[in-house]
Amino acid sequence: MAQSPRLDNPYPTLQKSLEMLAKARQYMTPISQTLAKGPGQYSEGTSPVYLERGSGCRVWDVDGNEYIDLNAAIGPLSIGYNIPAINEAIVAQLERGINFSLPHRLEAEVGALIHEIIPNAEAVRISKTGADVCSAAVRLARAYTGRKKVLCCGYHGWHDWYISVTSRAAGIPEEVRQLTGTFEYNDLNSLEQALDDDVACVIMEPFVFDPPAEGFLQGVQELCRRNGSVFILDEMWSGFRIALGGAQEFFGIQPDLAVYSKAVANGMPIAFLTGRRDILKRCEEDVFFFTTFGGEALSLAATVATIHFLREHNVPAVLAAKGKLLQDGLNALLKELHAEEYFLCKGYPCRTTLHIFPKAGDPLLLKTFIQQEMIRMGVLWQGNHNIMYAHSEEDLLYVLQAYRVALSKAMEALKDGTLQAKLRGRVLEPVFRKVDHFNMKPMPSNTVKRDKESPN
Ligand SMILES: Cc1ncc(COP(=O)(O)O)c(C=O)c1O
Repeated sequence: MAQSPRLDNPYPTLQKSLEMLAKARQYMTPISQTLAKGPGQYSEGTSPVYLERGSGCRVWDVDGNEYIDLNAAIGPLSIGYNIPAINEAIVAQLERGINFSLPHRLEAEVGALIHEIIPNAEAVRISKTGADVCSAAVRLARAYTGRKKVLCCGYHGWHDWYISVTSRAAGIPEEVRQLTGTFEYNDLNSLEQALDDDVACVIMEPFVFDPPAEGFLQGVQELCRRNGSVFILDEMWSGFRIALGGAQEFFGIQPDLAVYSKAVANGMPIAFLTGRRDILKRCEEDVFFFTTFGGEALSLAATVATIHFLREHNVPAVLAAKGKLLQDGLNALLKELHAEEYFLCKGYPCRTTLHIFPKAGDPLLLKTFIQQEMIRMGVLWQGNHNIMYAHSEEDLLYVLQAYRVALSKAMEALKDGTLQAKLRGRVLEPVFRKVDHFNMKPMPSNTVKRDKESPN
């Protein structure tokens, strides 16, 4: 029988999800278009595979089970599902048209809004995905500097120049791989060592879960200026969440270029590249960055409505307050359960994670177990807490109650060595994301240390 969030739920019936999965596997490979939504991150056998609909912060799977969603569609939902103000804007535009033969009025209006909100947005370009705008920024930096190499720190999408530094680099020519290097977060020395006079740009996420050390982001900016390299800030996660103007506003830094997507249109596909006019102007000259759906009007309408909503309701401040309630509550609970040496809820409050320390043993076994229990209690959990405006205080207090049950059971199972025996589904895979030590200049791949993957 379909169930709603309750602490005493049995394990949910997932029959329809699993039947659909088996069928989809006959022709889809893999079955999910977003790695973080697939069976590697949601334990097969205990997690729903397919969702049907969402409302507020809740989602319903194809078997009718209801969950509090802590993932916000891997970032895009800053407000929540099925928000009337956003729906109305999309429907109103739908009745006028989706894509047009000339730029639509909304392109100019959205450009003006972004110019107003994002501190470095002297100039603005609109596109569709995070990877699009990251790659456009890198291409512009290469054109502007006349240099070839790229240094990165974080995750920047599926395109060749970036994914070549990870363990999933098949299909990318060695010549391309040699042009991208990495540096270590919060370690200016590692950047200084990697910089040389052929580095066109440094692209980085301002933070993932660890905060920047005092002066680190400013130091990166300064090293880039001195080296004549373009400083690009990847604000996919920070943009419209940590502050309306993103991390550049929050930390008071001035990247030459910045890229945004995810939270800006509450789920609709759109991305922005902002920055110095003298660099972006190359898109009118010898740099090509154009795409058929770049001016698609439903996403533009959703962007206007979302930005108005975020401003009117002061959403970044609300996310920070709600996130703090969860983070402080969880860390207090960990202390009470004597589990602080195994877990820590870390990150800026708008987006935190339950970090598992190595002392706890195999973090993937623990994570799989906690997920199995959280899902039983109606919390769609994958380790992170991507706070949405629609999460109510009550919802978050319920999540804390569910954590109390799941973590108490996990601690018990850890103590008596029964964790693995208690798993009902497949063990989760590590998250594909660079968060660990890596530090290299671009150089032939057989001599460099490649990316490490980490489950958190
Ligand atoms: C920091 C960061 N940059 C770039 C991307 C790529 O965005 P997209 O998946 O929209 O291409 C992501 C996606 O998760 C991201 O988290």
